[in-house]
Amino acid sequence: MNRSLNRIMVTGGSGFIGTNFIRYLFAQPDFSGIIVNVDKLTYAGNPANLADIDEKYGKKSGAAGGVIGRDVAGGKISSGDMAGNDARDSSPRYFFEQEDICDQAAMERILRDYEIDTIVNFAAESHVDRSVHGPQEFIRTNINGTFTLLEAVRKLWGTEGKGGTGGYEGKLFHQVSTDEVFGSLGPEGQFSEESPYDPRSPYSASKASADHLVRAAFHTYGMPVTISNCSNNYGPYQFPEKLIPLMLLNMLDEKPLPVYGDGGNIRDWLYVEDHVAAIWLIMNRAGLGSSYNIGGDSEADNLSLVRNLCDRMALRQDKTPEHYRGLITFVKDRPGHDRRYAMDNSRIRADLGWAPQKDFDSGIDETIDWYLSNRKWAEEVRSGEYRNWIEKNYQQR
Ligand code: NAD
Ligand code: DAU
Repeated sequence: MNRSLNRIMVTGGSGFIGTNFIRYLFAQPDFSGIIVNVDKLTYAGNPANLADIDEKYGKKSGAAGGVIGRDVAGGKISSGDMAGNDARDSSPRYFFEQEDICDQAAMERILRDYEIDTIVNFAAESHVDRSVHGPQEFIRTNINGTFTLLEAVRKLWGTEGKGGTGGYEGKLFHQVSTDEVFGSLGPEGQFSEESPYDPRSPYSASKASADHLVRAAFHTYGMPVTISNCSNNYGPYQFPEKLIPLMLLNMLDEKPLPVYGDGGNIRDWLYVEDHVAAIWLIMNRAGLGSSYNIGGDSEADNLSLVRNLCDRMALRQDKTPEHYRGLITFVKDRPGHDRRYAMDNSRIRADLGWAPQKDFDSGIDETIDWYLSNRKWAEEVRSGEYRNWIEKNYQQR
């Protein structure tokens, strides 16, 4: 099966993985459609991530669409505005809508105005530690937001669509989910697509709920959905609240490197571009109602990973590995800290021919170099809100 996905609504496109997805899609020679990035721009959303994309594919100044702001997309964007690769410079292919996925009227407007045929839902509150301190936003965005999107789809594609645009035919809703819905593993074994859901944090419980709602829409209404569950991503544009960028930037600032608990928790790391390539493959080729596990076959315990980062940074900064390793500080553990995640990715390998293209050594070197070359980006995202968070999460440990 090879779908024709042309008018794509990307929710959460200004966050880490959404940004990488949009950049990846515009780099695909066989993608000639439009992308509408729908993002509320929480602390984790950064329009600067896509400034060059907006410049290249957005509508030029003075006209509707393509630039930041809720009122600029203007009226309905006709299918005729959709550019092929040849017309890239004259017809806009990138649009930005600053909206909340919990706002059903706004979601309906966007689906209607841009004649959206495909949705990929990245929008979420994504940081486990923040969900421990304040779960409310996770319930709102991850559960209610996903439900709201599904309701907008049911109305626009399902009910209204039947008359004019053929209902669900030729449409797709892809839900971006996580390995954390499966819970925590012991030293052996991996999660498969058949593993029972067993979430243990407010974050993973909210993502699990969203997955259930997406599956329910498939079974109940025949909504065309696919789901992917991925392991820990790393790469450019990751917000520095997450382990790898936090450690890299703390090293550059000569600050302590806070390792939770005994540092023995294990994660399965995947370079972000391998994740977004897998999502695009699933969206194009997976059977409706199916779900796929995505993982890097690259497990590491946190302490070994942080030591590895120290050694690589030392090489680049003309320091000894001991210099950075000396900054490692063990701090109070995360409550309910899942011990180990590992994904069995054999289904996506066998069905769709996907495999990670980047091994951890080259992926992490590229990532470190990206953070070193983008100090200004890092400074800008470490705003007042960021400093408050760091104080809340680390001072009290
Ligand atoms: P992120 O926190 O970097 O970005 C989330 C984006 O969603 C931000 O741009 C934010 O502004 C936006 N957003 C938040 N609430 C919104 C709302 N109510 N309406 C509209 N936009 C909203 O997250 P990420 O790491 O890029 O993760 C993206 C998705 O991938 C999430 O669904 C996450 O659960 C999933 N995921 C992440 C990883 C990982 O390692 N980061 C792994 C597997 C799955
Ligand atoms: O597994 C996929 C998930 O990976 C995604 O669904 C989440 O959105 C994403 O945030 C990530 O969750 P983790 O909790 O695994 O990622 P984080 O980077 O927060 O932490 C990775 C590990 O490092 C985890 O075991 C906690 C530990 N850690 C984290 C931080 C921020 C530390 O030891 N110290 C820290 O300061």
